[in-house]
Amino acid sequence: MILKGKKGIISGALDESSIAWKVAERCNEEGAEFTLTNAPMAMRMGKINELGEKCNAEVIGADLTSIEEIENLYEESLSKMNGKIDFILHSVGMSPNVRKKKEYGDLNYDWLNKTLDVSAISFHKMLQVAEKNNVLNEWSSSVALSYVAAQRTFPFYSDMAEAKSLLESIARSYGYRLGKLNNSRVNTISQSPTITTAGSGISGFQAFFNYAEKMSPLGNATADECANYCIFLFSDMSKKITMQNLFHDGGFSSTGISEDIIEDFS
Ligand SMILES: NC(=O)c1ccc[n+]([C@@H]2O[C@H](COP(=O)([O-])OP(=O)(O)OC[C@H]3O[C@@H](n4cnc5c(N)ncnc54)[C@H](O)[C@@H]3O)[C@@H](O)[C@H]2O)c1
Repeated sequence: MILKGKKGIISGALDESSIAWKVAERCNEEGAEFTLTNAPMAMRMGKINELGEKCNAEVIGADLTSIEEIENLYEESLSKMNGKIDFILHSVGMSPNVRKKKEYGDLNYDWLNKTLDVSAISFHKMLQVAEKNNVLNEWSSSVALSYVAAQRTFPFYSDMAEAKSLLESIARSYGYRLGKLNNSRVNTISQSPTITTAGSGISGFQAFFNYAEKMSPLGNATADECANYCIFLFSDMSKKITMQNLFHDGGFSSTGISEDIIEDFS
């Protein structure tokens, strides 16, 4: 039980397919105590209460673009768990442009702002409110989930690519600041395509999922495997890892072409 005695907050569990759902189950198995959070609308539509019961975790609604709701999330979490926070999972992403199938050359800029706010700036807000309210224990570990479109172009990913670049930059900048403050750590995990509600909302996702599977020498990383990686990053086994974007993608990001793909084109 490598998380025994640790207290955390896990965002973004909508249903069993969510990466955050798997992280919560693994945190529970590893002895952590945590609260769960999601946007109030998603709480009504999703199954987060079921997960809360299973993990004996309080569910606290918060739109993570709202400072007041984040403040309330920390206040309630600290009082429920009777102590400060050792880990945070940011597992939140949404693009109105992707949802409404707006082309990259025809972006709605109000929606672009929304994409950036929900998918990246919300992480800054969580960390800034955490710093101001002094809710993080020494050596705390915050992790956000990213995607390789931050570094390379995947046309279907649209303005989410900008959001992921910003998210990774926030992890570096805030990682420095919190490291100096109290040895807290901040990282992003760049995860393989994974079949979830957010993932499948991207057009051509299944074809790309199959392509990535064939490109990666180890195959795509699953949500369960991502959860294991999160557990490692929340634990004391990874104390000096901070300000990193960590690829968890079966080798996809370092592969030019694979034999499987060559075979398909021969
Ligand atoms: N699925 C993939 O292929 C993949 C790959 C790499 C990274 N990721 C990232 O993993 C994270 C989790 O996504 P997922 O694939 O598990 O899908 P998911 O749809 O299960 O999770 C996304 C979550 O974001 C929440 N959310 C949206 N707006 C919010 C807001 N304003 N406040 C609070 N929560 C809000 C949703 O309710 C949902 O629970 C996202 O950051 C996503 O970009 C996913």
